[in-house]
Amino acid sequence: MNGDSYAQVPPSALTGSMRDFRVPGGADLLGRTEGFYRWQDLRRQSGLWPFSRATEDGPKTICAAQDDSGNKMRGVNFASQDYLSLASHPDIKATAIETIERCGVHSAGSPALVGNTSHSVALEHKISEFLAMEHVVLYPTGWGAGFGVVKGLVRSADHIVMDMLAHSCLQEGANAATNNIHLFRHLDNNYCRNILTKIRGKDKQNGILVITEGLFSMDSDTPQLLELQTLCHEFNATLVVDVAHDLGSLGKEGRGHIGLQDMLGKIDVVMGSFSKTFASNGGFVASNSRAVKEYLRFYSAPATFSNALSPAQAATVLKAFDIVDSFEGRVLRLELLANVMTLRRELTEAGLEYYGDPSAIVCVKMGSEGLARLVSRRLPDLGLVANLVEFPAVPKGAARIRMQVMAHHSEQNISDAVEILKTAKAEAQQEFEIFGQEAAPGKRIAA
Ligand SMILES: Cc1ncc(COP(=O)(O)O)c(C=O)c1O
Repeated sequence: MNGDSYAQVPPSALTGSMRDFRVPGGADLLGRTEGFYRWQDLRRQSGLWPFSRATEDGPKTICAAQDDSGNKMRGVNFASQDYLSLASHPDIKATAIETIERCGVHSAGSPALVGNTSHSVALEHKISEFLAMEHVVLYPTGWGAGFGVVKGLVRSADHIVMDMLAHSCLQEGANAATNNIHLFRHLDNNYCRNILTKIRGKDKQNGILVITEGLFSMDSDTPQLLELQTLCHEFNATLVVDVAHDLGSLGKEGRGHIGLQDMLGKIDVVMGSFSKTFASNGGFVASNSRAVKEYLRFYSAPATFSNALSPAQAATVLKAFDIVDSFEGRVLRLELLANVMTLRRELTEAGLEYYGDPSAIVCVKMGSEGLARLVSRRLPDLGLVANLVEFPAVPKGAARIRMQVMAHHSEQNISDAVEILKTAKAEAQQEFEIFGQEAAPGKRIAA
């Protein structure tokens, strides 16, 4: 397959971003969604809309999927977040089936009422022990945990000081909680210190929540946690660390960067998701205070007014924690790390660059959005399922193909993926040089 095999792309399908449609104008709330749909559909008709895909039989290393127009694809799968390949682990499947047989499929209540089950109570204890933190609150999704911990703790007179690349759930929680939001340069603790100094210079009365992540999901990098936690103590601020991507999958013991940086049990508040390594939806917030747990249970809406994890979800995650915490878990992490290092090495040999430090997230640099879209459109035909990431999820001009590695990927899966990426990029580059010229930066279709 070469560049000529693809239909010519209208220049406006190579430019523009979702940001253009975030604040549509006009009184017609429904009608004003159409600008986005027109732009999206232009991309869809040109094969440049790789989002909202569906897998046929789960997140396996080779997967069959279809795009949102029903076009089928099959290929090596580097688009799933099942980092330790636990979603299809026989013991996890058996646990889910047994639990469904015994308890049915639904929690049928909020955790604040009678939605808890013996499985969710046991899961809270397991996470507490795993993180060396005394108290844990469960949430129906990781997103709910991130939003819920921020909105649950922060009031309008308080301040939020947040890494500028913190996840959507944390940003949305911040926006809902207060107008006093201060972003600091990514990973820059000195910048954070300057902000804290300014805030405390004027306001000693109100709270400050400092927010960061253990492993950033687009850049695969991490903050100095001890320094940040010490800063928080110095300025009477509270630190929250989102460990969605590193907990379970990184470090010999699977404690992620909190473990690697010797901060186990020493962070004020740890928030995480089960959806990357722990084979289910769901999330948690851990602290060392019973009062914080009880407060969040009744003042953090996703934990109070949303139904609890189903019994099968809680039992599945509990089983996943047991495996993560066992010898088998160590072996899976070593397999994952070996795959990550192989992928990074083979990408370099193929002349492809990537972002960040070794982790299950290996984002391959593309640069311009137009080029990245043309690369991404070739991947399904060539046999690779991988996600395109572009502005505003990452800075403009820093589009990338995000490869998410699983423990069960084979060496062959990895070499196939690298070969496909190399071919796709070479072909797309030619096409971009011809057609992409018209797609001048800044040229936009009407919102
Ligand atoms: C850093 C981070 N936090 C929170 C979440 C939300 O987790 P979930 O998908 O389990 O709701 C995600 C998932 O995309 C994430 O990447």
